Amino acid sequence: MTVFSGAGISAESGVPTFRDVETGLWAKVDPYEISSADGWRAHPDRVWAWYLWRHHMMSAVGPNNAHRAVAAWEDYADVHVVTQNVDNLHERAGSRRVYHVHGSLFDFHCDTCRSAYRGPVPDMPEPVESVDPPVCEACGGLIRPDVVWFGEALPDDAWERSVEAVAGADLVVVVGTSSVVYPAAGLPEMALANGTPVIEVNPEPTPLSSSATVTLREKASTALPGLLQRLPALLT
Ligand code: APR
Repeated sequence: MTVFSGAGISAESGVPTFRDVETGLWAKVDPYEISSADGWRAHPDRVWAWYLWRHHMMSAVGPNNAHRAVAAWEDYADVHVVTQNVDNLHERAGSRRVYHVHGSLFDFHCDTCRSAYRGPVPDMPEPVESVDPPVCEACGGLIRPDVVWFGEALPDDAWERSVEAVAGADLVVVVGTSSVVYPAAGLPEMALANGTPVIEVNPEPTPLSSSATVTLREKASTALPGLLQRLPALLT
């Protein structure tokens, strides 16, 4: 089984999604300014402050029943998790094979020489407008999170493993993603083109809904815990 997850699976842990018009992260800031390579070059202090706050938020919450259900499926199946989320809630729930196609907010590297940064990261319980990023000891470059911004390529290793996981799956479960950001959103399409059933779990319709084999209009924490038992009925 391959699970493809997005911000919706972490919403019930208290991590806001991106595109909800009222509560989403993008309702508060300009996504391009705060999450693009250009935005970083123009205002690294603002971008760093924003990610410190998100880092705090993600550290302060825990996995929910949806993350735990995915981890528990490993008792019954060979499970690979492809996630667009930069939190570590799948790992903290116990999933062993997690591929972060949009990177991780729990690793950092130098923007110039790309060496890993293992120094301290300040706690930022409230959002602030500007914090200067740490400076690389080796080259003086700025330290940035290992997340993929608009305009950047996906990490090769995570992407290759994700494509393999989708190509080798007997079932793909797509949960909590608006299915609009490519190339990641192409993974379920790849599965469907191979004849692999795709189950979508999302309370709202998405561009994938009309082509998915099954769409469950349910929250992740409602649908995932009993999903394996429902499979025979859903897929016949
Ligand atoms: N259970 C399941 N799905 C949910 C839940 C829930 N409890 N709550 C919300 N959702 C759904 C929403 O209906 C929406 O379709 O989760 C989806 C979240 O969509 P986005 O906010 O667009 O998040 P995501 O699809 O992960 O975004 C993809 O875009 O902004 C970039 O790099 C960022 O990885 C992110 C990518």
